[in-house]
Amino acid sequence: MSNLEQTLSIIKPDAVERNLENEIKEMFKNKGFNIVKEKKIQIEKAEAEKFYKVHETKPFYNDLCAYLSSGPIVVMVIEKENAVLANRDLMGATNPKDAADGTIRKKYGISIDKNSVHGSDSIDNAKIEIDFFFKD
Ligand code: CMP
Repeated sequence: MSNLEQTLSIIKPDAVERNLENEIKEMFKNKGFNIVKEKKIQIEKAEAEKFYKVHETKPFYNDLCAYLSSGPIVVMVIEKENAVLANRDLMGATNPKDAADGTIRKKYGISIDKNSVHGSDSIDNAKIEIDFFFKD
């Protein structure tokens, strides 16, 4: 049965800064993702705080929000069958040290903070995160 889904992907400041945008997009396309919307933006810290609100009690919350707002990012709506899970597989583990070969974070991630990409962790959060960046 067809189960076409959309999820949100962010190419984070460390990857944009190293000009990895096109290489990372190629990795998505090679896995069969269609990039249906995209924009390059820089967000305010207050917006990052809203975006990462689920993490507000975590010790790394402040640094995380400062980091996401520290430079340009590319936000994309990507689509394929079972996109939420497929994107998490392609990104690899949150900490690049633990990421499997062939994943984006293994290839490009620098540290748990500078891990190059963000992806929605569930279908419900994908809808919320897509609306966050693309609701007109
Ligand atoms: P991301 O998928 O964007 O979601 C939250 C981010 O917090 C995560 O990627 C990491 O870059 C960052 N982070 C920093 N420290 C931690 C930690 N100890 N555990 C999980 N995520 C962390």
